[in-house]
Amino acid sequence: MSSKFIVRNFNLNRNLIPTRKSSFFPLKMKKRDPEEAEKSAPAPAPAPAPAPAPAPAVSKIQHLVHSDSTGGGGGWDKCWEQGLTPWDLGHPTPLLAHLHSLGALPKGRALVPGCGTGYDVVHIACPERHVTGLDISENAINKALQLFSSLPKAMHFTFLKVDFFTWHPTELFDLVFDYTFFCAIEPDMRSAWAQKIRDILKPDGELITLMFPISDHIGGPPYKVSVSDYEEVLHPMGFKAISISDNDLAVLPRKGREKLGRWKMSASKSTL
Ligand SMILES: C[S@@+](CC[C@H](N)C(=O)[O-])C[C@H]1O[C@@H](n2cnc3c(N)ncnc32)[C@H](O)[C@@H]1O
Repeated sequence: MSSKFIVRNFNLNRNLIPTRKSSFFPLKMKKRDPEEAEKSAPAPAPAPAPAPAPAPAVSKIQHLVHSDSTGGGGGWDKCWEQGLTPWDLGHPTPLLAHLHSLGALPKGRALVPGCGTGYDVVHIACPERHVTGLDISENAINKALQLFSSLPKAMHFTFLKVDFFTWHPTELFDLVFDYTFFCAIEPDMRSAWAQKIRDILKPDGELITLMFPISDHIGGPPYKVSVSDYEEVLHPMGFKAISISDNDLAVLPRKGREKLGRWKMSASKSTL
């Protein structure tokens, strides 16, 4: 990465005001103007992450998510309704924006499952790539629509309020980008997650996982993840990693706990 990129984004990062700390989720940053935030993706400051503080918000989130027994995402929706969203960066994921700026992401049709407010969806949407962001929470999707639906590039993205696991798209995707969705679902849903991705990706499509949080904590969400957790569910579906690397562009509170995985199917197994 060029030093220009680092300096520009470091300055941007200084404008972000931390308002909350959590053990697993990052510092919550004051939101910037969505159009400004969408245009430029800040890189992390170079200093090492401070020791994490206790996280009452996280236990509240876990309580809400687990107290919904319907499986309809009501707990997640309550989190969004109550503003308990410490995972929400308020700007695009720096590494994804960097890959986009390098032209290193597949074109065509992209999907961001569990997209939240959709900064990543909007950032990588362009005439060459239509991006669908989906989330089970109505409040999250409404927020995304409020933030972004009047942008000039709105014809290049779509937001859907659906459950990833029961949703049946009519067309396959060239790219699926997963960040903080794999760690949000119950670990016993991970095989279903991999199966669904296999079913909705084109045979030569790519899955990009930004793996987080790589840690050894107990419980969730967010549940701890490891590269082997992904391999365990993706290998049986025919996916092989093209590359696994540390994320040097992780936002400060997540530094050292993220890896980028790029995966492709070794043989066609799509069922759509
Ligand atoms: C930890 S948040 C991450 C949001 C977003 N990726 C981000 O980084 O800001 C997980 C998101 O997944 C959504 N979610 C949970 N289960 C889902 C499901 N079965 N289908 C679709 N979205 C789901 C939640 O509503 C929540 O917005």
